[in-house]
Amino acid sequence: MADCLTLDDFEAAARECLPHAVYEYIAGGAADEVTLGWNRQALQRMRLRPHVLEDVSSIDTRVEIAGQALPFPILLAPVAYQRIFHPDGDVATARGAGAAGAVYVVSTACTASIEEIAAAAGGAPLWLQIYLQLDRGFTRDLLARAEAAGVRAFCLTVDTPVLGTRNRQARANFAVPAGLPTPHLDAEGRTRLSVVSGKREPVTWRDVEWIRSMTAKPLLLKGILDAGDAENAVAAGAAGIIVSNHGARNLDTVPATIEALPQIAERVDDRVPLLLDGGIRRGTDVVKALALGAKAVLIGRPYAYGLAAGGADGVARVIGILREELETAMALLGRASIGALDRSVLW
Ligand code: FNR
Ligand code: LAC
Repeated sequence: MADCLTLDDFEAAARECLPHAVYEYIAGGAADEVTLGWNRQALQRMRLRPHVLEDVSSIDTRVEIAGQALPFPILLAPVAYQRIFHPDGDVATARGAGAAGAVYVVSTACTASIEEIAAAAGGAPLWLQIYLQLDRGFTRDLLARAEAAGVRAFCLTVDTPVLGTRNRQARANFAVPAGLPTPHLDAEGRTRLSVVSGKREPVTWRDVEWIRSMTAKPLLLKGILDAGDAENAVAAGAAGIIVSNHGARNLDTVPATIEALPQIAERVDDRVPLLLDGGIRRGTDVVKALALGAKAVLIGRPYAYGLAAGGADGVARVIGILREELETAMALLGRASIGALDRSVLW
């Protein structure tokens, strides 16, 4: 880990220390992984337009999302089954996120209880991702427990009625180890998320209302690519929208998230904040997402690799590198605050 200077370096380090099947579970996308490539390529294709002789003597990366002040616009996306990557799993991630000052969005498929994770975060803000489960009472209890533990917002994942066609995972014989603790998945959830089963739970717009009635905390919807769906999310009272293709793990050949973002930004017109994930690996990627209308980004795989290679320190280091790259990019673009990142920084 000492040699890791970039987020991609952490991938290489994790690949060396993880069992092959586990690395494939993290790294893999759906089907032919066309979208997995596009998530990166679409960001890399975009060119930046620097502005010179602006006062960039101090860079301010603060943003406010859903009533919460964040020191910088980078969050940790929900990632399942973290104890497979490192013995301390989600607890180490919470510690690393807390040390680095980033919001950690805990997965429903976390491998420690939300109370243990909150204790490790040491007061740093946590959000909880929700997979609505067949046993609605189970989800209701989880929302209440999470609120009691201090969780500040919920993200309902709306892009996964079934898991995608995960050929790469299957080829590597990846399986969630029997006995892995997943305290916030009900019996059905354990089955549905651990194997590619045909079980479908009817999760619809009506459930968004139901969840909202269960909690006073902000509810964001994660996994929207279509502007019409974004409009429905606003109408349903979402406090924010996460433009995401689930890290290209679900439906292959959907566009890169950075390509979907402008249409959604135009339709939503600042009524609720937009976040974006998928392929964010460099500070310049963060700048591009913000320039096209996102308020913040999330990273998934990079911190999973940081966790695998270096536990809590690895997670904190990954966040620190990306944050530093963002500040460098802003200075070189001649833009000293997040609000000043608009299309003027794009070629
Ligand atoms: C995920 N993702 C995910 N999303 C979610 O809503 N709930 C979950 O439990 C998981 N689990 C999960 C596991 C692993 C191993 C990965 C790689 C991803 C998707 C995740 O939140 C995010 O949308 C993507 O990872 C973002 O893309 P990048 O940063 O990985 O390219
Ligand atoms: C994944 C699920 C668990 O992407 O969200 O692996």
